[in-house]
Amino acid sequence: MTQRRILVTGASGKVGGAVVTQLHAAGVPVRALVRREAHFPAGVRAVRGDLGAPASLDTALEGVDTVFLVWPFLSAEGASDVLDTIGKHARRVVYLSSQGVGSKDQEPGDAITSFHAELERLTEASGLEWSALRPTGFASNTLGWAEDIRTTGVVRAPLARLARPLIHEADIAAVAVRALTTDDLLGARPLITGPELITQERQVALISEAIGRPVRFEEIALDEAIEQMTAAGYPAELVEAVLPAQAKMIDSPEPVNDEVQRITGTPARSFREWAADHAADFR
Ligand SMILES: NC(=O)c1ccc[n+]([C@@H]2O[C@H](COP(=O)([O-])OP(=O)(O)OC[C@H]3O[C@@H](n4cnc5c(N)ncnc54)[C@H](OP(=O)(O)O)[C@@H]3O)[C@@H](O)[C@H]2O)c1
Repeated sequence: MTQRRILVTGASGKVGGAVVTQLHAAGVPVRALVRREAHFPAGVRAVRGDLGAPASLDTALEGVDTVFLVWPFLSAEGASDVLDTIGKHARRVVYLSSQGVGSKDQEPGDAITSFHAELERLTEASGLEWSALRPTGFASNTLGWAEDIRTTGVVRAPLARLARPLIHEADIAAVAVRALTTDDLLGARPLITGPELITQERQVALISEAIGRPVRFEEIALDEAIEQMTAAGYPAELVEAVLPAQAKMIDSPEPVNDEVQRITGTPARSFREWAADHAADFR
């Protein structure tokens, strides 16, 4: 493993947080980009910066040669300036993209797929060494059910039969660590997936098993779910991208592969393992 100085963006988030933890555990010097106070393992330096204000990134990038880039916005606006700023300091960027970019089933106008495709294009054109990781849906999306599970024991959601190969953030992070610290994934866009398709109903059953309490899935209509997301304040681009894409996945599910194992040497974690790791979030 080449010793690098790595800046992790999205470090207080799910994937970035797992990348920080794994790099630190491997003894790799890692710096965390944050917008506010956040807690990391002792020895990880947190530096303030905002991806929406590229000039604020210079301090965090001082002495850094490799960047893990999580894009937290719903458009690619400003991404070119951020990559220029990264390019002034670093020589490698690993971008957290999405499997939708490589999928023929996505709507061309889907805002999320579009910004990831544009970020991949900009990353590749940046002159930096690059990799783009294309994970399927995150297991951590189910944390959106945590409050209902804690308070009512009922998950009211659409698409009970929707089956996805949800991926554990620790597996995305393990692939990211390979891309950040070795040359194995230079110029690659690996599609990385969880180990098997699991329906949403089954996901709820596995969370129930992990917490040792009954949890029921109550299916609601797609329109009601769209109304709920809108009322909860989710941006229209997100609502319009996520639920229709998920509805299509019932007949055309995301692929399942063993890329996590090929890249990291360890099989992708199951959703049962993910639920056990996160049981405390649902209790
Ligand atoms: N969910 C899925 O199924 C899925 C699938 C494929 C790809 N993705 C992609 O994965 C990414 C999200 O990863 P995640 O789930 O790990 O994220 P997350 O847990 O939601 O965390 C987002 C991170 O971005 C940071 N952030 C937000 N605004 C920022 C800004 N202006 N400047 C700097 N940092 C900022 C947040 O910091 P604060 O703590 O300061 O807010 C937080 O650390 C998105 O690009 C998404 O499209 C998601």
